[in-house]
Amino acid sequence: MKFSITCAIDYPNGTPHLGHAYEKVVADCYARWNRLLGNEVFFLVGSDENGQNLVKTADAAGMTTQALVDQNVLKFKELFTRLNISNDDFIRTTEARHTEATHAIWKKLEAKDDIYFDKYQGWYCTNCEAYYTELQAPDHKCPEHHKPLDQVEEEGFFLRTSKYQKWITEYIRANQSFVVHDLSRNEILSRLEAEPMRDLSITRPNKGWGIPVPGKPEYVIYTWFDALINYYTASEPKGFWPNDTHVIGRDILWFHSVIWPIMLHASDLPLPKQVYVHGMVLAADGKKMSKSLGNGLDPIDVLNQVPVDSFRYYILRAIPAGANGAFVMEDLLKRHQSELGNDYGNLLMRVVKLWIKRSGPGLSSEGIKVAFDFNPLKKEIIELMEKREHHRALDRIWQEVNVLNSYVNDQKPWSIKEDEQKFREVIFNSTYGIDVLSQMLGAFLPETGAKALASLGRTPGVLNLDARTYQLSEPPQLFPRMEPKTDAEPAK
Ligand code: ME8
Repeated sequence: MKFSITCAIDYPNGTPHLGHAYEKVVADCYARWNRLLGNEVFFLVGSDENGQNLVKTADAAGMTTQALVDQNVLKFKELFTRLNISNDDFIRTTEARHTEATHAIWKKLEAKDDIYFDKYQGWYCTNCEAYYTELQAPDHKCPEHHKPLDQVEEEGFFLRTSKYQKWITEYIRANQSFVVHDLSRNEILSRLEAEPMRDLSITRPNKGWGIPVPGKPEYVIYTWFDALINYYTASEPKGFWPNDTHVIGRDILWFHSVIWPIMLHASDLPLPKQVYVHGMVLAADGKKMSKSLGNGLDPIDVLNQVPVDSFRYYILRAIPAGANGAFVMEDLLKRHQSELGNDYGNLLMRVVKLWIKRSGPGLSSEGIKVAFDFNPLKKEIIELMEKREHHRALDRIWQEVNVLNSYVNDQKPWSIKEDEQKFREVIFNSTYGIDVLSQMLGAFLPETGAKALASLGRTPGVLNLDARTYQLSEPPQLFPRMEPKTDAEPAK
C-alpha cells in the first residue's frame, strides 16, 4: 500500500523554532510507522519562500531575499538532519517545478472563470499575509499576533471561494476523517457556518519577489495560493497525489481545510484524504511559542543538551496529538531518566548482559514455549496510529515495556542457577519482547530502535514478530544519566 504524508512548508524568515521541530517529528513518526508496516511511503517537507514578509526581513537585514532564504533553508535542513527526519523530498517553492505546477492550476481556474479581476478592501495582517473579517477581528487586531490590522484597499485577482462555501461545508460534514481531530473539525465547521465567505484576494503588486501571474507580470501570486500547491507539485509526478495526510498546526487550519480543497475541487483535482491538525507547542508559561511573541526555544539548543531520541520521545508522548501542550525542559529530563533510562535502557542492558556473561552471544527459541503474542498489540497500535493518536500509541508501547520489566522481575533470571532451559526461556522471552518493542519504537525513536536491535543482532526493517534467533552483544548506554545544567564554573 502507498502512504503519503506532508508537513506544512515553513517560512524561512529566521531560524526554525520548536514548533517547526515538533511538527516534523510528529509527521516523521507516522512516515516511519508506515514504512515499518511495509507501505511505500512518500514524506514531504519544504520551505515557503514567496511571501512578501521575507522581502521585508531581508531588507531589514541588508540582504537580498534570495540570500536570506538560502541561508535559512540550510538551517531548517540542518535541524531536520539532527532530528532524524526521514523526508523523501524537500520542496522549495522558488523551484521551477513549483512555478510550473502553480501556473497550471492558475490557468485552469482562470479558464473556468473561478479567478477574476476586481478591487478589494479589508483588514490585513502583514505577518499572517491574510485578511481578517469583522467577525474574526472585531477590534481590528490580529487574533494571532495581537497587533493592529491595516485597512488595505487593492486591485487584483480573486478566487471565487464564496461559490464553494456550501460545497466545502457539506464535504467536511460528510467526511468525518477529513479534518482530524474533532476539536479542529468543529472549529472549522462553526466558522463556515458563522458568516458568508468573501472571495479570496490571490495577487499582490509585483515588487520583484514571488511567482508572477501568467500573462500579467505586474502582479505576483499571493503566497498562500502558491504555497498550498507545493503538495501537489512534489507528490503528483511521483504518483502520490492525492496525499493521505497533510500535517499542519491549528493556526493554518482554514487555509488547509477550506481554501485548499476549494482550489483543488474547482480545478477538478482529487482532494487529500485528510488534514491532520496538531496542537501548538506552548512555552513553560503556557503561552504559544512563536518567533513574533519572542518566547520560542531554539530546538538546536535543546538538542545540544539531550539525545535526539529523548527530545523526540518527550514531544511525542507528553504533548497529546491534536492538543496544545507545554514544553518543559525539567519534564523532558525526568522522562529521559526514569522512562527511557530506567524502564527501557536498563531492561535491555540487564537482559543482554546476563545472557552474554553466562551463555555467550547466540540465543534461540529451540524447545521453548514463546510466552508473548504481540499480534493484538500490533493491531492496537495500527488503530491508534490510524486515528492519529501517536501519544496513546507510545503510551501503549510503554505499558508493554513495563509488562516486560515485571516479567523479568518476577522470573528473576539472575537467580536461576541450575535449570539452563528455564534460564534460556526467560531470557529468550525477554529478548523477544525487547525485539518487538524496539522495532515498534523505531518509528518514534529511530536511533534507539536501531541501536537496541543491533545489540540483538538484528537490523531495522519491516515489522517482524517471528524472530526466533538472536546474536546478543552489549549495547551502548542509550540514555546516559544527565546532571541538571548549572551556570557555575566547576570547582578547581
Ligand atoms: O504557517 N507549535 O509557516 P510557519 C507547533 N508557511 N506548531 C507550530 C508552532 C508551535 N508553537 N508554531 C508554528 C506557515 N507551528 C506557512 C505554511 S503550508 C502550505 C504553508 C507550525 O513557518 C504551524 O502551525 O509559520 C505550521 O504548521 C508550521 O509550524 C509552519 O509554520
